[in-house]
Amino acid sequence: MELQVEQLYKSYGKKEALQDVSFTLKKGIYGLLGENGAGKSTLMRIMSTVDFPTKGMIRYDGENIFTLDEKYRGKIGYMPQNYSVYPGFTAKDFLEYMGVLKGIPKEKLKSRIAEVLEFVNLSDVAGKKVKTFSGGMKRRIGIAQAIINEPEILILDEPTAGLDPTERIRFSNIISDMGKDKIVLLSTHIVSDIEAIANNLVVVKKGTVLKTGNVDEIIQIVKGRVWETVVSHEVYQKLRVERAVIHLKQMGKEVQVRFVGEQYPGAENREAEPTLEDYYIFAGGVNV
Ligand SMILES: Nc1ncnc2c1ncn2[C@@H]1O[C@H](COP(=O)(O)OP(=O)(O)OP(=O)(O)O)[C@@H](O)[C@H]1O
Ligand SMILES: [Mg+2]
Repeated sequence: MELQVEQLYKSYGKKEALQDVSFTLKKGIYGLLGENGAGKSTLMRIMSTVDFPTKGMIRYDGENIFTLDEKYRGKIGYMPQNYSVYPGFTAKDFLEYMGVLKGIPKEKLKSRIAEVLEFVNLSDVAGKKVKTFSGGMKRRIGIAQAIINEPEILILDEPTAGLDPTERIRFSNIISDMGKDKIVLLSTHIVSDIEAIANNLVVVKKGTVLKTGNVDEIIQIVKGRVWETVVSHEVYQKLRVERAVIHLKQMGKEVQVRFVGEQYPGAENREAEPTLEDYYIFAGGVNV
């Protein structure tokens, strides 16, 4: 099971949304991390064959996904960033509609709907209209429709957007279950979501891939470059221009600062255990 994105380009008129994007996905959970406008949704739409690249290729187990077409589409589940449901649809109606679209045989569909509703913990609201659902429930019904055809590849665009902490945990449990035998790619611009859910990372910036790899290994890149110190407000004003500051805490006349890069001269620098956020801030300034 291998999905290979090869030298992908996508332009909208003069706007180049993706440039020379290459990476390979195998079984596991991948976070697609990038700021607003980085090209995450564009990439996911193309990977779901909802849109086409201007140039480049995607192969699933060696075969061009755009040639495989229906065969490939039967193997994927996709949740767009903004999807709409006919306002009158109940959760069950919506899943039935999606199931029929995906070609699931009628005799199988009923039990499959019950299964996925159970899986995303929405069985008790199966007969309620989706428009009355909370943000978190809408995301979960979005996941339910994406997995209804038992896909091998699951592509979820910003699945955690607007979720409260409880919903986030529930979601992360649902996803970890699925990473065992599927390729799961989920986009976010929330770094802590990646740490909680994904083991692997694809970082995109301005339409190009900045980094791919194992999350723990990527974090180690900034080991020995993350520092905490306490300085006066005056020193802080200089430090914040010269270093990438992760966060700070006001402490009366002084400021406690966490930053990445070289130690700051003239202050006591205490080395800190790196996190993905440290890497992300660091990578924003330096290409590593
Ligand atoms: N249909 C379109 N027509 C023109 N430009 C587009 C279109 N879709 C996307 N773009 C542009 O391509 C770039 C990438 O957009 P995309 O939606 O893929 O980013 P994103 O990483 O998903 O951002 P966000 O985090 O806000 O969802 C942006 O500059 C966007 O304005
Ligand atoms: Mg997007």
